[in-house]
Amino acid sequence: MNQQELIRAALEARKRSYSPYSGFQVGAALLARDGRIFTGCNIENAGYSSTICAERTAIFKAVSEGVRNFAAIAIAGGPGEGEQLQYCAPCGVCRQVMMEFCDPETFQIILGKSQEDYRQYTLKELLPLGFGPENLGKERMCDD
Ligand code: THU
Repeated sequence: MNQQELIRAALEARKRSYSPYSGFQVGAALLARDGRIFTGCNIENAGYSSTICAERTAIFKAVSEGVRNFAAIAIAGGPGEGEQLQYCAPCGVCRQVMMEFCDPETFQIILGKSQEDYRQYTLKELLPLGFGPENLGKERMCDD
């Protein structure tokens, strides 16, 4: 599984975005360390705060299936149904959820405008000095 394949899965997931209010469509593809991919899209709600981002949809799908070891996530987001994508970085809430399950030093966050045009960061780069399970004396449940 390389970056291009993961971005392709995120682009496919983006097609299922339910975003009638913002018109901003996001897809995510989460690569588990066992090679499985969990996809997600943003799902909006008339009660705006009930909206969930694509990234958390993918992470919660995986965790609810018993998978907690993750290597990378690709995100493809932008307005409208076309391919005018941005380097769509995860919101603060999603970064915090990643902090719960992903090793900040190694977890890769891939922001894909297309399969060829992407930027890649570690979670630590996007969430420096993050607050995580260690702060509460717990081990992060992301080791094999
Ligand atoms: N959104 C995501 O799904 N992921 C991001 O990384 C940024 C924002 C969604 C939430 C909402 O449905 C819409 O994009 C506009 O904020």
